[in-house]
Amino acid sequence: MINKAIILAGGMGTRMSPLTKAVNKQLLPIYDKPLIFYPLSILMLAKIKDILIIVNKGQLSQYKKILPDGKRLGINISFKEQISPRGLPDAFLLGEKFIDNKNVALILGDNFFYGQNLTSKLINCTKLKNGAKIILHKVAKPESFGVAKTSKNGKILSIKEKPKKFFSDLAITGLYFFDKKVVEYSKMLKPSFRNELEITDLLKIYLRKKKLTSDILGRGGAWLDTGSIEDFYKTSSFVSAIENRQGFKIGCLEEIAFNNKWIGKKEILNAIQFYGKCDYTNYLKKLI
Ligand code: DAU
Repeated sequence: MINKAIILAGGMGTRMSPLTKAVNKQLLPIYDKPLIFYPLSILMLAKIKDILIIVNKGQLSQYKKILPDGKRLGINISFKEQISPRGLPDAFLLGEKFIDNKNVALILGDNFFYGQNLTSKLINCTKLKNGAKIILHKVAKPESFGVAKTSKNGKILSIKEKPKKFFSDLAITGLYFFDKKVVEYSKMLKPSFRNELEITDLLKIYLRKKKLTSDILGRGGAWLDTGSIEDFYKTSSFVSAIENRQGFKIGCLEEIAFNNKWIGKKEILNAIQFYGKCDYTNYLKKLI
């Protein structure tokens, strides 16, 4: 079982400078909410309540303004600073105490997921006991991601980080589920040529031990990248189109907490006070 998760929300956001010079990328807006709301909402949909958010050194106060400690949402949020972006597996080195020898999920702070049946897929992934599990999604430009080659029956054969030559069009999304060995394995990793610990090297350890499995987010689901300014605006347009069409919000944290019965009417009223007069508040009012 997985009851704990880490959101990796540091990074320099260099590709989005000057927007990211003063504000961390994950606090910039995707339509009507800060980007960080979306990966956090995914963990909450997976019913994970114990969450560590890793942020850049010096940016903790920015995050605490919007996500103090999770009590408002009936969850437990703690923070840890990353001194420099040493790579994704650094999450498990920084989070060793938080992980406390338990299984753990990792989601990248800039990843956006949406789709029917996503919640049941997520809950299924949290049932992991041993090994590691990744979510794959077909993309048109696989060279921008970690990719996996699979056999006809979905077994992972090999993985590569951002292959220059075509290898597979199944991208490894930024949502990973690991058993408790992840800390031990992360300590074995060496920095790559770009001087970072690579998540694909960590996954390769599980693959060599025949302990890496995957699930596919099919074409009915969306996994969007928010790595560049262009992607940021495309993701914003996607959220705007769905929300305005359906009248439902994507990534409304209080709504998920309320539906999970982690909070009640009182907490929604507090949230209304907290956010003040805005469209998000009007939506919260409708919930109760
Ligand atoms: O989005 C999925 C992809 O994410 C995977 O397919 C790749 O295998 C994986 O390496 C990663 O690739 P990116 O090049 O997109 O990762 P990026 O360096 O952009 O970092 C992703 C997020 O993690 C971003 O929000 C910043 C944050 N981050 C990154 C690093 C390296 C940190 O907080 N600390 C870090 O040390």
